[in-house]
Amino acid sequence: MTSISLSATATGKADAVVVGVYATETAKGVKGVALAPGAEAVDAAYGGALAKALDLVGAAGKDGELTRVPAQGDVKAPLILAVGLGKKPAKGEHLNPDTLRKSAAAAARSLNGKAKAVFALPAEDAEQAGTVAEGVLLGAYAWEGLKSPRKDAKGPVAEVTLVTAAAKQAAVKKAVDRAATIAGAVNLARDLINTPPSHLYPQTFAERAQAEVKDAALATLSIEVLDEKALTKGGYGGIMGIGKGSAKPPRLVRVAYRHPKAKQHLALVGKGITFDTGGISLKPSNAMDTMKSDMSGAAAVFSATLAVARQEVPVNVTTYLSLAENMPGGGAVKVSDVITMYGGKTVEIMNTDAEGRVVMADALARASEDGPDLLLDVATLTGAQVLALDRLSAVMGNDDELRTRIVETAKAAGEEMWPMPLPEYLRETIDTQSADISNMGQRMGGMLVAGLFLREFVGEGIKWAHLDIAGASFNEKAPYGDTPKGGTGAAVRTLVRLAEDLGSGK
Ligand code: BES
Ligand code: MN
Ligand code: ZN
Repeated sequence: MTSISLSATATGKADAVVVGVYATETAKGVKGVALAPGAEAVDAAYGGALAKALDLVGAAGKDGELTRVPAQGDVKAPLILAVGLGKKPAKGEHLNPDTLRKSAAAAARSLNGKAKAVFALPAEDAEQAGTVAEGVLLGAYAWEGLKSPRKDAKGPVAEVTLVTAAAKQAAVKKAVDRAATIAGAVNLARDLINTPPSHLYPQTFAERAQAEVKDAALATLSIEVLDEKALTKGGYGGIMGIGKGSAKPPRLVRVAYRHPKAKQHLALVGKGITFDTGGISLKPSNAMDTMKSDMSGAAAVFSATLAVARQEVPVNVTTYLSLAENMPGGGAVKVSDVITMYGGKTVEIMNTDAEGRVVMADALARASEDGPDLLLDVATLTGAQVLALDRLSAVMGNDDELRTRIVETAKAAGEEMWPMPLPEYLRETIDTQSADISNMGQRMGGMLVAGLFLREFVGEGIKWAHLDIAGASFNEKAPYGDTPKGGTGAAVRTLVRLAEDLGSGK
C-alpha cells in the first residue's frame, strides 16, 4: 500500500510532482488556466512559466483532467503532472472537497508503477490535507489479482509526499491519519469484494475477519464466529436454509466494538453472499458474472467497524456479517419450501434468488436483541435498485429522519445515496397462504418490496435504515474519480462518518 508523509516544501526528489490547475475565464470570456495553491514552489523552480506551459499543451483545468509536462529548471522530479480542479473558486469561496478528492485520486491512479510522487495540491488546512490524502489513497488502489509474478507488474505508487505549509500542525497530522484509516478500510472492502469466490467463501471470510481483528490488537474490539453447528443450534433457519445448497457451509460473524465513553449504540448488518448463483431459481449465466460482489454489504460493515475502532470513536458498534454461498446443490432450498427463521417467523421461499433478504432477516432479528439505538443494514439486495438508481445507493427505513440523515451523511462523506419509500400498499404482495411471509412479492417496485420484507424482522421500536448498494458496490466500467474498476467499497465512508457523528453527540 501507498505510504504518505507530510512536508512543508515541494523540493524533495521524486518520479513526479503533482500540481493542481484551475479553469479561468476573464470578464470578456477569454478562457485560460491558473495554478492552484500548493503549486507555487514548483512553479518558481520551473521559472515561473508553468501555467503558460500547461496552457500551451492544451490543459483546460477540467475536473480530473490530466496533463503531463517534462520538468525543467530546478524542479526535482522529471515529470510534472497537472490535474484539473475545475473552475477557479471566487474570492472567499472554498474549493469543493469532492472535486479535490476525486482529482487527487485520478492523479494518483495515473502514477501506478512509480516509486515516489510529490503531491503539491491545495492543502491549506487540516480538512484539505485530509481530503488530498484520502483521494490519493483511494485512487492509488489497484486490485492485483492472483496473477503469477511479472516483471512488468505496476503496483500503486509506493511513496507519496503531501506538501502542506501546515505540515507541522497536530490537526493536519490527525486529519491525514484519519484519511489513511478510512481509505485503508475502503481498500480492505475492495480487496474482499474482488477476491474470487474460490478463495473467499463463508469460512475464509470469517477467518479473514478474525485475522484483521487480531491484527488490530485493540482491547475494545472482539469477534465471535457461529459455524453451521452453532447456527443450527441457535435457530438461524434463514442463513442455514440459504447455505444448504452449497458444499461450503455458512457463518454468522459478530464483531463488537465497545468504547468506555460511548453514549450511543449502533448496530450494523451486512449481506455476505460470497457467490450468488440464484440457487434453484438459477440466474442466467451473464447475470452471474459479477456475483462475487454479493458480499459487498458484509465487507462494508466489517471494514467500517474496524476503522471506527482504530479511530477510537466514542460510540459502541455491534456488527453482523451474514455469510453464505447461494448454490443449487442437491440439498438446496427449493421453491415453495417453508423455513423457520431466527426468532420463529416462517418464510415461504418462492424464489431462491431472493436469498439476500432471507439471510439478512436472521441477522436483523439477532441484532435487534442487542437493543441498539440505531440499526443499519447494508446489502446488494436487488437488481431493481440498479435499474432505478444506477451507481447511487438507495436508503429506505422505518424512520424518515434517520433516512434523511443517512443521505446527508453520505453526501458529507463523498458518497451518493438517495431516499426511497416503503409504500404500505406493497406489503400485502408478500402475504402467502403457507407461511407468515413470502420472500417474493410484486416485481414492480422490487427494491421496495425487499425493504418491506426486511422491516418485518426489525425489533419493535428500533430505528432502522436499509441501504441497498447493489448498483454502487461494483464498477464494471473504467475507473473514474476515486472509484476503481471492480469492488468500490461503497458505504464504508458513510458508515464511519455516521459513527463519528454519533460519537460527537450529533
Ligand atoms: N444479489 C442479487 C441482487 C443484485 C443484482 C445485486 C444485480 C447486484 C447486481 C439478489 O440476490 C437478487 O438476485 N435479487 C433478485 C430478487 C428477485 C428474485 C425478487 C433480483 O433483484 O432480481
Ligand atoms: Mn439472488
Ligand atoms: Zn444476492
